[in-house]
Amino acid sequence: MTLAGCSDDGGSGDDGSSDDGSGDDGSMDDGSDDGSGDTSELEIVHWWTAGGEQDAFNALLDGFREANPDVEVVDNPAPGGAGSAIDAVIQNRVIDGNPPSTFQIWPGQALTPYTNEDLLEDIGDSVWDDEMRDAYLDGVVELSQPAGDLVAVPINIHRLNNLFYNVSVVEDAGVDPSTIDSPQGLLDALETIDAETDATPLAHQTQSPWSSLQLWENVFIGQQSVDDYQTLLDGDVEGLEDEVRSALELLADYLEYIPEDAGSITWDQGNDGLIAGDAAFLHQGDWAAGQYEGASDFEFSDDWDMVPFPGTSGVYHSVIDSFVFPTNNPSPEATEQFLNYAGTVDAQERFNPIKGSIPPRTDVPMDEFGDFLTRQFEDFQNSDSQPPTIAHGTGVAPAIHSALDETFANFNGNLDVDAAYEGIRDAF
Ligand code: GAL
Repeated sequence: MTLAGCSDDGGSGDDGSSDDGSGDDGSMDDGSDDGSGDTSELEIVHWWTAGGEQDAFNALLDGFREANPDVEVVDNPAPGGAGSAIDAVIQNRVIDGNPPSTFQIWPGQALTPYTNEDLLEDIGDSVWDDEMRDAYLDGVVELSQPAGDLVAVPINIHRLNNLFYNVSVVEDAGVDPSTIDSPQGLLDALETIDAETDATPLAHQTQSPWSSLQLWENVFIGQQSVDDYQTLLDGDVEGLEDEVRSALELLADYLEYIPEDAGSITWDQGNDGLIAGDAAFLHQGDWAAGQYEGASDFEFSDDWDMVPFPGTSGVYHSVIDSFVFPTNNPSPEATEQFLNYAGTVDAQERFNPIKGSIPPRTDVPMDEFGDFLTRQFEDFQNSDSQPPTIAHGTGVAPAIHSALDETFANFNGNLDVDAAYEGIRDAF
């Protein structure tokens, strides 16, 4: 629960050139493929195609190509917010022994189906040298080794508990977001926006269940505490029945104030409404801020701003992305080159300012991160806790996660608190 505050200094060990020196194949055989041997074609599967995320990914690839001109990158996205479409693709390919070179995955619990079956290479020596280990936040290193071996390279830290808003819309309604001090207070603000303006109060999507699941997580923490949330993650849902129901009831109330077409839009389409001044608030991870950075005439502080989700101000509810080295790898050398690069200062300095996240290395210069991310970084450093999330896979095993997705898909349609409570209890 403590990613921040650990780890130290850092020298500058960066540059991004990686190299590593291990070039001599031999080791990584792992009984793989088909005799075609290693190629320098690197296939990457990820879901960063929405809301400016593609730009961040391209910036990462540009840096990688500069450092490794010999490798040809095959960019093979599986679009869908919060990885909603990637599992189906990746799990089958990995199980069938036909994985891509690397793929995007949350570190922590999300890795366990793969580590349980030994489907990820131990990259503790080939990638995680001492320089890199020293530079990373200790908590992030821990998430990269859920079964002991280091198997992932985290590249960012997003914050989930953000309440973004369009400045002029809330001003028109006479709402001051900085004074909303509880999840219930947010409902009052949504009612005021609805009464005083033509804007949609909350730019929320329900096409896919993850945004409601993550909002419920934040309502729960805002109403209760991180300790109760941790108890929930540990599986004691029945001991917290009233609290779980209370968060569901308030979520159902919020869902009265979302776009009419919420069921057919993606998260970034909802956010387009906020940018256009057609919506007031958005609860979303700070990948939404990456989208604002890419929008024209939409400036931080003048046009948009954010407060921590009401009731969660000392919390940095963290969402982390990483890349891994699947066994049976079609391109062992190129994969190692990419993972080495992803762990550098250069990679994280290019990627994160555009993505709307802060780096998991402690030695990345923050000059290019802009005012918003500089403030997020300070919040991170001053935060009391950085719990993992459910909707973004670090905090619960994938089987629990997918049962909860199903529960919240139903809840989006029927707002049935009893059924959702039972779904959550049974999921855990
Ligand atoms: C998260 C992921 C973020 C962002 C978001 C929206 O799960 O960690 O990087 O892509 O989904 O799709």
